[in-house]
Amino acid sequence: MAIVLGIESSCDETAAALVTAQGEIVAQRIASQDAEHAPYGGVVPEIAARAHADRLAPMIEAVMQDAGLELSDLDAIAATAGPGLIGGVMVGLVSAKALAMAGDVPLIAINHLEGHALSPRLADRDLEFPYALLLVSGGHCQILRVDGVGQYRRLATTIDDALGEAFDKTAKILGLGYPGGPAVEKLALEGDAAAVPLPRPLVGSGEPHFSFAGLKSAVLRAKESGQYADADIAASFQQAAIDCIEDRLRVSLDAMGEVGSLVVAGGVAANRSVRASLEALAEAHGMRFVAPPLALCTDNAAMIAWAGVERLGSGQSDPLDVAARPRWPLDPDAEPVRGAGYKA
Ligand code: KG4
Ligand code: ZN
Repeated sequence: MAIVLGIESSCDETAAALVTAQGEIVAQRIASQDAEHAPYGGVVPEIAARAHADRLAPMIEAVMQDAGLELSDLDAIAATAGPGLIGGVMVGLVSAKALAMAGDVPLIAINHLEGHALSPRLADRDLEFPYALLLVSGGHCQILRVDGVGQYRRLATTIDDALGEAFDKTAKILGLGYPGGPAVEKLALEGDAAAVPLPRPLVGSGEPHFSFAGLKSAVLRAKESGQYADADIAASFQQAAIDCIEDRLRVSLDAMGEVGSLVVAGGVAANRSVRASLEALAEAHGMRFVAPPLALCTDNAAMIAWAGVERLGSGQSDPLDVAARPRWPLDPDAEPVRGAGYKA
């Protein structure tokens, strides 16, 4: 049975995992760098790269030992080759290249976003193409139509901040620390989502793109006004974000043509209120709703190994001189959008 080693190091999680062609996660390790970055309220690229370099090799050794495998037993080594913080990406990709060369095993360079995009098929082996994908993480906020491995049509992206970034900044404004998403979600449970009037940027616009910079500024003004309880701000922010997602998704679904399932992936997919609203939206559209378990939503190596399994299945691998890419859009044909902080 084919087995693929996956390596992830594009942001602040160092991870290694072994996944079979049947979608069994045989072994996995993951180390978060939250403690290292917490004093800065966000990920510091240089600290991240060093932490990946310290941790990755022993972690790969550990998963291989857990599974009782030698390098030569692997069918492929899949590593994130971008997009992401380039120092960290290099650590993972160079390690993968060295192991591929030493074990004479094919190398597969994975787009991190493709890892997220295909992870729901690892979680749910019945999920078939095509599906609508909402990809919401710290660095990305996109709506895609997924027609197959390597076949992605981007309908929407953010013209400024990603949704996870908006959660993280809201957390920072409220003094909740890093990472912000889970902290905002927890505090929101105690608040009134109607208490603070906040904008819903781009809601009602005919193009399905996202914008969260104005919402973030409004959160800052609400906090500085001293008029509102932090829990009410958190709850109102989360509701505003959810209203944006629902509206933008409706526009995208209308433009995308027939798809059977609505799928959510990326770190923000861990948010239970976001999930609940998406589930209701899918039901209203007569679609299946698929969300990977929480551990597969945030960055992990099993999704990278799985993307490797999918690529291997379609006969693909990469040369050992494949380059790491700080930017790497899933849909290179997507129309560029206006906005200063446009993210591919
Ligand atoms: O996919 P991910 O682990 O890394 C990136 O590729 O960005 O996503 C991390 C992002 C962070 O912005 C984090 O605050 C957000 O996902 N996040 C959440 C939750 N858990 C993680 N946002 C809202 N609610 C959560 N429960
Ligand atoms: Zn990610």
